[in-house]
Amino acid sequence: MNNWSIDSWRSKPILQQPTYSDKELLKKVEKELGVYPPLVFAEEVRSLKKQLADATKGNSFLLQGGDCAESFSEFNADNIKDFFKVFLQMSVVLTFAGGKPVVKVGRIAGQFAKPRSSDFETFDGVELPSYRGDIINAIEFTKEAREADPYRMLKAYNQSAATQNLIRAFARGGFADLHKVHRWNLDFASGSASNKKYEKLSNKISQALSFMEACGIKAENTPNINQTVLYSSHEALLLNYEEALTRKDSLTGNWYDCSAHMLWIGDRTRQVDGAHVEFLRGVENPIGIKAGPTTDSEDLIRLIDTLNPENECGKMNIIVRMGAEKVGDHLPALIKAVQREGKNVLWSCDPMHGNTFKSSTNYKTRDFDKLLQEVKNFFDIHKSLGTHAGGIHLEMTGKDVTECVGGGQEITEENLSSRYHTHCDPRLNAHQALELAFLIAESLKEA
Ligand code: PEP
Ligand code: CO
Repeated sequence: MNNWSIDSWRSKPILQQPTYSDKELLKKVEKELGVYPPLVFAEEVRSLKKQLADATKGNSFLLQGGDCAESFSEFNADNIKDFFKVFLQMSVVLTFAGGKPVVKVGRIAGQFAKPRSSDFETFDGVELPSYRGDIINAIEFTKEAREADPYRMLKAYNQSAATQNLIRAFARGGFADLHKVHRWNLDFASGSASNKKYEKLSNKISQALSFMEACGIKAENTPNINQTVLYSSHEALLLNYEEALTRKDSLTGNWYDCSAHMLWIGDRTRQVDGAHVEFLRGVENPIGIKAGPTTDSEDLIRLIDTLNPENECGKMNIIVRMGAEKVGDHLPALIKAVQREGKNVLWSCDPMHGNTFKSSTNYKTRDFDKLLQEVKNFFDIHKSLGTHAGGIHLEMTGKDVTECVGGGQEITEENLSSRYHTHCDPRLNAHQALELAFLIAESLKEA
C-alpha cells in the first residue's frame, strides 16, 4: 500500500471532527484504546467479504440496518434483543419470500459518531457546538454537555464490546434457531397486518423444517438451522477512535480496523484527497461509500480506484442515498460508469437519508411511502441496466417508536411526538421495518 501508514490520515484535510481542548488527555485515551482487545477478528472480516462478494454477483442480498446513532442512555439488553428479533424476522422474510440468502450487517456496536450540517447550533439566542454523537459529546443543550470529551471513546468502546458480546451469544447460542421463528414476534406487534403475514410465513418455515428433518437435514449436520451471524458496522467518522482500534493481523500481515467488521464513509466525508479516504484505503475491511445526489461519476471511479485498487470483489459497497425523486436522475450515470470501468461493486439502497423533511409539527421525519418509492426506483433502474440491486441500508429499531410517518399503523405528523426517541435521524419502527422487508421481498422475487 503506497505511502500509507496507520496515521497518514493526520496530514490530510479532514471534515466533521470535534475540537478537543485537552490534547494530552486525547493522546492518553488513544493510547489506552490502542492496547484494548479488538472488537472483531480478522478472519470474521474475511468471511464477511466473501459473503459480500456473493451479494455483488447477485447470489445473496445485504440487509444492513440499525440506529442512526447509538446512545449511552438507550443502552440495555431489551433494545439489543428487540433489534435482533426484528432483524431476524426481516432476514427470514427476505430469504423465504424473496428467495435469496441474506447477509446481515447491523449499524450496531460502534455507530456513535455523527456528521452534522452545521458546526454550531443556536437556540434562544445561545450558540453552542453541535451534538456529534455520544462518542464525542452529549445531546443536552448546555456548554458542559457539548464539550468534546475523549473519555467518551472509552465508554463507547465498552458499550460496543458488551453489545457485540450479546449479539454473538444470541447468534450462536440458540436464539436465532429457525425453530424459534414464531418467538421473534414482538409483543406489541401482534395483530398488525405485517405480523399476520409473518405468522403465515413462519408456519410455512416450520413445515419446511419438519420436512427437512424427516429427510435427515437437521441442526446437528447443518448449523445454519440454529445459528447465524450478525456482523457489525458503523460510519468511520471519528478517526482517532478508528486508528486506535486498527491492528495488524498476525496471520496475513495486513491491517484491519477491528472496531467493526465493515465501515463506511459518509456522504459528507468522501473527498478522495481527504483524511477519511486516506485512512480507509489502508485497511482490509469491506468499505461502504455513501453516494448522495452530488456524487459525480468520475469522482466515484477515483474513489473506487483509491479504496480498492485491486478491484477485489466484496470490498466495495456503494450505498445510494439520493431521495425518491432524484435517484432516477443520478443513479444510472453512476452505474454506467462503474460498468464501463469494469469495477466490482455491491450496490445497496439507503432510502432514508435522501427523504428527510421537517413535519408541520416540527419533527425531522421520513415518509414510509417515499422510502418505498426510492427502493422501487432503485430496483427498476438496476433491472433496466442489467445490474444487481444487491442490498438495503436502513435506520430502524426494534421498538414501537413514532419517528417516520405512514406505514400500516398510519402514523401521522401529529402522532410523531408520542414516542419520538431517536438521538439523530428518524428510524423505522419494528412494524414499519417488517412491512418494508415484505415489500422488498416482492421486488427481490421479481428481480
Ligand atoms: C448516516 O448514515 O447516518 C448518515 C449520516 O448518512 P449520510 O452520510 O449518507 O448522510
Ligand atoms: Co442517519
